[in-house]
Parts: sequence; C-alpha cells; structure tokens
Amino acid sequence: MICFALPPHERIGRAIARALRARAGTIDRRVFSDGERYVRPVTTVTGEHVVVIGNTGPDAASLLDLCILLHAIRASGARTTTLVTPYFAYARQDRADQSQEPVSAVLVARLLESAGADHIVLVDPHSIVTSRAFHVPVHVADPLPTLASALPTWARRDAVIVAPDAGASDRARRLAACLTRADVVVLEKTRPRPNVARIARLRPADQRRMQGRTAILVDDIIDTAGTITAAATLLRRAGVVRIVILATHAVCSGPALERLRRAKVDRIIVSDSLPRIRARGVPFRVTSLASSLTSVISATYAEGQ
Ligand code: R5P
Repeated sequence: MICFALPPHERIGRAIARALRARAGTIDRRVFSDGERYVRPVTTVTGEHVVVIGNTGPDAASLLDLCILLHAIRASGARTTTLVTPYFAYARQDRADQSQEPVSAVLVARLLESAGADHIVLVDPHSIVTSRAFHVPVHVADPLPTLASALPTWARRDAVIVAPDAGASDRARRLAACLTRADVVVLEKTRPRPNVARIARLRPADQRRMQGRTAILVDDIIDTAGTITAAATLLRRAGVVRIVILATHAVCSGPALERLRRAKVDRIIVSDSLPRIRARGVPFRVTSLASSLTSVISATYAEGQ
C-alpha cells in the first residue's frame, strides 16, 4: 500500500503510513508561470492499493490538486484508490433554497469519483447529503471520541453539552454519551443572511439548568465563528461559568479569530483537518485525526475493498 498526502496533511499521512505499514508516497507539485497546476505521484502506483489524503478546500487549488493527483493515479494503473478527505469543503452547499441554486456538495462528489477515487473516507461531513452523493462506497470517520478525550477533567464534571442549532443536536447527544452525567441543550439558530447567525433566547427551564455550570458547545465547523460566539454570549448571560468549544473543523475565516478572542472562552478543542491556527489569546488545542482515520482505512481494507 502507498499513502500520498497533500498539504497540510503530510504529518497525518506519515502517521497513517506507519500505522498501516504502507509506503509514504512522494508527490511532485508545482504551479507553472501561467498559474496552471501540476501534481504527479512520483512513487510508482501500478498494481498498488493507494490511499490519498487531501482536503477539497476551502481554497479552489486544493480541490484541483486532489483531482489531478487522483486522475494521474488512476491513469497509472493503481489497483484501488481510497480518498481520505479530512475536511470536505462544499459540504454545506447541500441543498437548493432558491431556483437554479447549485448543490455543490454533489458536484464535488462527482468530480472526485470521476477523477479516480473508488472509496471515500469523510470526517464529520456536515450532513448526509455528501455521503449520499457518491456512487462509490463511503466510510465516515467520527472524530468525537478523540475530541472528547482532549476535554480537561474540570470540563467533564457536571457539564451541559450545548448544540448551537438543531443540526448539531445529534452530535451533542453522541458527545453526552461519551461523558457521564451530561445534559444536552439544543439552541435555536436562524440565518437572516449568509454568514450571519442569530441564536434565540433560552427557554427559562434551560436557563435555570445553566447557572454555575460548565457548557461544552459542540459543532462540526467554526467558520466565521458567528454561530459559536453568539451561543457563547448567550450562555454567559445565562450564568454559565466556563465554556469549552469542541468542533471538528477549524476553518476560522474572516472575523473568526477576533470573535473568538473577544468571546473569552476557556478552551477550543479542534481536529487537525485544516492547517493549524496559532492566534494569541485564542486557547486552541488540536487533536490529531490520524488514529481514527487509520482505523477506518484498515476496516475498509479488512472488508476486502
Ligand atoms: C452550520 O450549519 C454549521 O453546522 C456551523 O454551525 C456553521 O457552518 C458555522 O459557521 P460560522 O462559524 O460562520 O457561524
């Protein structure tokens, strides 16, 4: 087996290759003077089982590099290609709310399988739409147990798990199942326009449950941090004394870091699905997806893919 990793996943790639006793593949990646991209697998793939690790964004170049690499691997006669996408960008474009609106999650799935992926591993892919968009087998890695293991002891005691919107409620319940004595509260979020989050006031009964406790806010993505910081402000007003944020994907675009700094939360636990962010005054802790991805990849091969 050969394992190729595109940036920023070289470290995860080496860890997976070591754990699976695979070879770490070498890639020649360049940008020509006119901006065209070139991605060649240098390690010979003919007749081999290949694992490719790469994100589909947020930048367009990541998606293009991934497609070019998959295409070259298929064209060179690899036996199978398993694509692992720690962060599947476009997963939030999963429905058409207006006429002629693109469902880009489906388009990206089609691009990847036509480029050469014949098995896909997704990590916390926002909604079921992305998994269902593929015609090839999809395996989903759940990073929650790994993220939960990074919770400090003080956060585990008598915590309330808070979902900032209905979409995060299942994730919140699964996290509660990883901890003992954890209640779950689901907040109501609306989006008056793209990238703007409004969270409705807590019901009085939920407000009483929050007083003097630690809240663990759980979501799949921190993008502009509008959702998570609006929720944190509401929880503080409700009497929560400590706030921990737990999210799989730290996109942190635009105003995110400034919002997180101002929110003064106690800890932010995220995975390494995206490049590591270092920001003064923002208490990030990063946990690696390497071991949960290794388990999913080995299970895929054990099923005799
Ligand atoms: C939305 O449904 C997602 O689960 C996240 O809550 C959202 O993408 C976070 O975005 P932002 O950080 O920009 O509020």
